[in-house]
Amino acid sequence: MSFPIERFKEIRTPFYYYDTALLDATLEAIKQELIPNYHMHYAVKACTNPIVLKHIAKAGFGCDCVSGGEIQACLEAGFNAEDIVFAGVGKSDWEIELGLEAGIGFFNVESIPELEVINEMAKERGKIARVSFRINPNVGAHTHANITTGLAENKFGIAMEDMEKVIRIAQEMQNVEFVGLHFHIGSQLLVMDDFAALCERINELQEKLDKVGIAIPNINVGGGLGIDYQNPDGNPIPNFKAYFDTYKKGIQLREGQQLHFELGRAVVGQCGSLITKVLFVKQGSVKQFAIVDAGFTDLIRPALYDAFHFIQNLTSPDAPVEKYDVVGPICESSDVFIKDYDMPKVQRGDLIALRSAGAYGEIMASQYNCRQLPKGYADL
Ligand code: LLP
Repeated sequence: MSFPIERFKEIRTPFYYYDTALLDATLEAIKQELIPNYHMHYAVKACTNPIVLKHIAKAGFGCDCVSGGEIQACLEAGFNAEDIVFAGVGKSDWEIELGLEAGIGFFNVESIPELEVINEMAKERGKIARVSFRINPNVGAHTHANITTGLAENKFGIAMEDMEKVIRIAQEMQNVEFVGLHFHIGSQLLVMDDFAALCERINELQEKLDKVGIAIPNINVGGGLGIDYQNPDGNPIPNFKAYFDTYKKGIQLREGQQLHFELGRAVVGQCGSLITKVLFVKQGSVKQFAIVDAGFTDLIRPALYDAFHFIQNLTSPDAPVEKYDVVGPICESSDVFIKDYDMPKVQRGDLIALRSAGAYGEIMASQYNCRQLPKGYADL
C-alpha cells in the first residue's frame, strides 16, 4: 500500500487512514463470489467510519447491526432498512422500537424473553417483526478465547436442543414471523475447516427440522473470516473464493432458501491503518523504546487480545533495522503495541503506520486519559 505521506504531515496525529481503492477492490472481490441466493450483510461493528460505510452501502451490501446506534449510522450511510439484520443478546426497548419503525430485515433473537418483548412491542405498533433465532452451534473456532462465540459456554444464542421449542413458540405468536436461523462461531478464523464444521452442523439441523415439518427460509452463517495481519501487502484481499467455496460445497440448501453472511474484519481490516508519530526514542537499561503519540485508546487490540499489527516506518523505510518496544503515552504498562520489534531506525517526528487496523480499530477507540478520539480520513 502506498501512503500520501506529504499530506499526512499536515494532519494532527494519531489518525486513521482508509485506502478506499483497496476497500472497493475488496468489495468487488466479494461480489464476484456471491451467487443470487447469497446475501452479504457487512458487520458494522468492525468499522462505522462514515466514508467506509458509504462505500459499502454503494456496493449494494446489507448490514449487520448490534445496536440502535449502528442502525442509525447505517440508515444515514444509505443502507436499505430491509437489508439490515439486528443481533445482540441485550437489545434495549428503544433499539427494538427503532428496528420496528425503520422496518429492518430481521431481528436476530437470542432468547425467549427477548422474543416475547419484540412480539409485545410489535403488537403495540400494529407491526409484524421478522425474527430469526441465533443458535449456538457449539462449534469451537481456533482463535483467541475472547473472540470465540459459538461454544455452549458463551452467552450468545439459544442452545441447539431448545431450537424446535423456540420456533414453535414464535409460530404461535401473532406479531412475529419466524424467518430463519442465525449462527456465528467466532472471529479471525483462517482455517476453512471451522466453517466446514458449521456447515455440517447446519445440515444435521436442517434434517431434523425437515422431519418435524419446519421450513427455514433464511440461514445466516455470521462472519468470522480472518485477515493476514503478518503480511498485509502480500495478502491485501482475503481469500474470499476459498471461504465462499466452503459454503457452496458444504451447505445443503433447500429450494428457495437464502444464505446470509455477516463478514466484518475481512471487508475492512486491510484498508485501514493507524498513523502515528514518533515522539521520543528512549534508551532503557535493557530496551529501546519508540514512544509514539497513539496509545491503546486509539487501537486497543494489542493490549486487549495480544494482537499483532504490522508496523511500518513510513518516513525512513530504508534505514538500518533496530529493535524496539513500540509504546504509547498512556499511563498503563499495557499500553504497548509490540515488544522487541525489528523495524527501520526511527527518530523523533517520523511517521509510522500500524497496519490492518481498519477493523475494530477506530470504532473501539476511547477517551481514557481525556484523549481525543482519533479522526478518520480517506483519499488524501
Ligand atoms: N456476526 C456476529 C454475530 C458477530 O458477533 C461478529 C463479530 C461478526 C458477525 C463479524 O465478525 P468478523 O467477520 O468481523 O470476524 N473486537 C474483536 C472482534 C470481535 C468480533 C465480535 N463479533 C477484534 O478486534 O478482534
